[in-house]
Amino acid sequence: MRRKIIAGNWKMNKDLKESTSLVQEIIQKNKSFNCEVYVAPAFPFLNEVSLFSSSSQIKVIAQNVSNKSSGALTGEVSIDMLKSINIESVIIGHSERRKLFGEDDITLKMKLENCFKNNMEVFFCIGETLDMREKGIQNDVIENQLKNTLFDLNNVNLEKLVIAYEPVWAIGTGVNANSDQVQEIHCHIRNLLNLRYGKESSDLIPIIYGGSLKPDNSSNIFNCSDVDGGLVGGASLNSQTFVDIINSI
Ligand code: 13P
Repeated sequence: MRRKIIAGNWKMNKDLKESTSLVQEIIQKNKSFNCEVYVAPAFPFLNEVSLFSSSSQIKVIAQNVSNKSSGALTGEVSIDMLKSINIESVIIGHSERRKLFGEDDITLKMKLENCFKNNMEVFFCIGETLDMREKGIQNDVIENQLKNTLFDLNNVNLEKLVIAYEPVWAIGTGVNANSDQVQEIHCHIRNLLNLRYGKESSDLIPIIYGGSLKPDNSSNIFNCSDVDGGLVGGASLNSQTFVDIINSI
């Protein structure tokens, strides 16, 4: 059985008080989840949100991490720093990091390598732009994103890997990929993982979907056979919509 996961990516939203209130509300609204639940607050609040969620099932995940271990790198945060506050999971390769902060495949490969070396759990985001989908090249784009990064590494801890398919055109637009589109790409990703790592071990890697997930579209998407959960942006900023999405899996 594959893990089922719902993660809330809060992006650059919520201050300290709002972050701790949100996690408390989620816990109050749902004492026992039917899947693994993660929240990703901004860096300054990881520790506090962790402390507030420590008695619950909620795990806290970082939105990013440096590809270097220490040094003169103003504004960066290392894996050791995250580990020192008991953060063991990180999102890598979000399309906003790729597009707005210029993270290319070489950088992402280094980040992945460092994470696996240090036993961090990785949510690795991949996905095509609207232009790529309109050209019908989404399968090739996904394959190249994996081949140039993850598949090029020798030491990948598959037990610590979650793939997040996030079509860029669906992120924050209100236009989600429909369940056929999601299933098609997730099946493609699963086949690529099978070819690279062998069926037995890669069949256990969760593949989750992100992009305008809401309570009214989540259960359709989660019902797809190759969808193991969701990475939620906007709808995770409200405890009720996030809990409704969790309950729909
Ligand atoms: P939205 O749910 O706001 O579209 O964001 C998805 C996302 O980017 C999660 O990482």
